[in-house]
Amino acid sequence: MDKILIRGGKPLKGTIPISGAKNSALTLLPCALLTDEPVTLRNLPRLADIDGFQHLMNQFGVSTSIAGARPSDFGRVMTLQATRMTSNVAPYDLVRKMRASILVLGPLLARDGEATVSLPGGCAIGNRPIDLHLKALEAFGAEIELASGYVKASAPKGGLPGGSFTFPVVSVGATENAVMAAVLAKGACELKNAAREPEIVDLCNLLAAMGAKIDGIGSETLTIEGVDRLHGATYRVMSDRIEAGSYACAAAITGGDVTLQHAKADEMGATVAALTEAGVTVEEVKDGLRIAANGKMQAITLTTAPYPGFATDMQAQFMAMLCMAEGSSVLTETIFENRYMHVPELNRMGANIETKGRTAIVHGVEGMTGAPVMATDLRASMSLVIAGLIADGETEVNRLYHLDRGYERLEEKLQLVGADVERVGAD
Ligand code: UD1
Repeated sequence: MDKILIRGGKPLKGTIPISGAKNSALTLLPCALLTDEPVTLRNLPRLADIDGFQHLMNQFGVSTSIAGARPSDFGRVMTLQATRMTSNVAPYDLVRKMRASILVLGPLLARDGEATVSLPGGCAIGNRPIDLHLKALEAFGAEIELASGYVKASAPKGGLPGGSFTFPVVSVGATENAVMAAVLAKGACELKNAAREPEIVDLCNLLAAMGAKIDGIGSETLTIEGVDRLHGATYRVMSDRIEAGSYACAAAITGGDVTLQHAKADEMGATVAALTEAGVTVEEVKDGLRIAANGKMQAITLTTAPYPGFATDMQAQFMAMLCMAEGSSVLTETIFENRYMHVPELNRMGANIETKGRTAIVHGVEGMTGAPVMATDLRASMSLVIAGLIADGETEVNRLYHLDRGYERLEEKLQLVGADVERVGAD
């Protein structure tokens, strides 16, 4: 298995192109199930998760073709067409590898009146239920059965009648599934306390471009008037705000000065505010954001929350960055119950982090040291890369399949800004 070797201590300088957003792409791809016309997605990141989703779409009989990006380009263009569906079953083998596969449930149900999707099972960052996905679909008139590890959803003849659902807690995935089911409903569907993440706005914008009628885009109440059919569209995937935030932390910890090309400050509000509070300069420049360190960073207090709050997907990277700040930072994780698995690894690199339940106290240290490390999820892996960029000596990051799920050609992007990083094959 490949690993990444990092020899720390080089301030990052230059420009990093930010890719299309993974989490957005994973909800835009299944929209192709909602029409028999072609849907073309531009700026799709080249990631293992996207390849996995493409494979899942092929399994339903959706044709996919990738157009002309050169191997040296970041991103690519994919056209999907669901002219005729050959299956509405998402099998365990595919769903198990990628939790986001559950996002086919709503669109399959809308298109075919029936869908069978394997339950995704547990996940390294906590027990991640899908009860809200199912309750929202039921509120719109779906019948749900659970049997042998599968969810079987069916709609009355003629489609979902519609209805109203209030989320008891904000869920990104459940909002996405419900919106995709609602666009072809017979009547009106209302979602209250819906997630407002920029990726949900991206989803609604693609659906609107396909002819869907959605009111309240970007707000916590979405009202969707079902239409008889949707048509094809060409759409550019938004920039990855989590990838951008990760490289911002990398630049800051190394005392660097980088421009994150295509990053958008308005989609990264809480990340920008946290960087600024820690003493890092964040400046909007043409088509991007400049991130520049200003000497020693200051400790800060952060609590994860649904958008527009501080993203749980940025918690691990900030924790790594704050290891080198002056004073003690306090981080509280409110979204997932088991999302501190990077802490012991960071401590092995010389960090001084204590955890108590959902809170972590990061006592700033003067320096960190390289070590062989591995992580159990995507963002935790990135936090180890960030620490490795400042650590003395060599850091060896193992289990790269996590990073490859969510960071397009990480080592190449870091090399572009002068990091001493290489990917090597297994011995
Ligand atoms: C998405 C993101 C993930 C991010 C998370 C929170 C994708 C592919 N993944 O995950 O990167 O960390 O949002 O911003 O976009 N919950 C329930 N019942 C449900 C669904 C969720 O109780 O049916 C709970 C979860 O356990 C969690 C909280 O709601 O505590 C938020 O989870 P959710 O927003 O659904 O996360 P995902 O959509 O899985």
